[in-house]
Amino acid sequence: MVVAGGGLIGLVTAWRAAQRGLTVAVVDPAPGGGAARVAAGMLAAVTELHYGEEALLGLNLASAARYPDFTAELEEASGEEIGYRSCGTLAAAFDADDRAALRELHTLQQRCGLDSQWLTGRECRRLEPMLAPSVRGGLRVDGDHQADPRRLAAALLSACERSGVRFVRASAARLSVEAGRATGVVLEDGTAVRAEQTVLSLGSYAARLNGMPPEVVPPVRPVKGQVVRLRMPPSRYGPFLSRTVRAVVRGGHIYLVPRATGELVIGATSEEMGWDTTVTAGGVYELLRDAHELVPGLTELPLEETCAGLRPASPDNAPLLGPTALPGLHLAAGHYRNGVLLTPVTGDAMGELLATGEVPELVRPFSPTRFTGEQPHRTPGAAPAPTPTTST
Ligand code: GLY
Repeated sequence: MVVAGGGLIGLVTAWRAAQRGLTVAVVDPAPGGGAARVAAGMLAAVTELHYGEEALLGLNLASAARYPDFTAELEEASGEEIGYRSCGTLAAAFDADDRAALRELHTLQQRCGLDSQWLTGRECRRLEPMLAPSVRGGLRVDGDHQADPRRLAAALLSACERSGVRFVRASAARLSVEAGRATGVVLEDGTAVRAEQTVLSLGSYAARLNGMPPEVVPPVRPVKGQVVRLRMPPSRYGPFLSRTVRAVVRGGHIYLVPRATGELVIGATSEEMGWDTTVTAGGVYELLRDAHELVPGLTELPLEETCAGLRPASPDNAPLLGPTALPGLHLAAGHYRNGVLLTPVTGDAMGELLATGEVPELVRPFSPTRFTGEQPHRTPGAAPAPTPTTST
């Protein structure tokens, strides 16, 4: 089989498929790159809950629950750590309106049976002493953790290599379709990478691959996010921040993700700007302004990096997982705000689908065909895919 796109989703799909005995090629000019280079890595099933996303919540929680075992298995398989920290999250409110917004989130969390505790401003500062005195209240969510997406991508790359996944370091220019079925991808130089099963895990770019029949083009669009990275000092008096801190600051949303390595990731803007990935003065200003209101002491920290990436968003904010209406073509795309969180469950589901032909129950609601009303093509079960071959 061939996986077009070597970000987190493509790599985890390739690794799990290889573990199940399939022969796998990943096509990507720079595997391990993409949104993983930008993402903060919050595993925020509870604190990032939104109205109308209850079905997605089930998938998010299932994936969060898999993280400890997934981490142990991947670190063993790759020999590399992925920066998983079970540190919990505090969601803080800056002013009275922000507190009302968090109260609404708390109501929704309680209605969904989630574990979340309301704190006063003073209780928030007791947990995180660097918070501004103006913080009015917050939510303590001990089950929302973090991983480091760059280290996760590096570990998946190593695990894939150790499992025999072949990397074709080039861009997929178009999907190859012969006699009504997908037969792999064609590279920019005309080389064909042929396979019985093709998985598109190109993030936002999944909708841009040439050669796709119109009915299988996924409705995925890019949503830009800008991020700033600071460096926290080692401290004799305790960590600068001990857990992920999210906040509503005068109606705007921000998060600060402190890593064990000393990196502090501040994110993120959310901009419908097409394919633009420019880091702008305005974007960085807004992030630092809100972060400074929340944690005044952070203006002393060294600024290490600014960057921007594209979230692959679908019409219902949930991923597209499984077979399309075109025989031989599968999608693993559209993970939007939850790519890092959904990496374990996506790998498990895609591995099972590719090896057995069966779509696991858990991901059936996320069929790529749910927006078109078409039937997904059913792959005959349990037939090992032939070795991908490369020809010109
Ligand atoms: N999940 C964080 C973000 O999308 O910015």
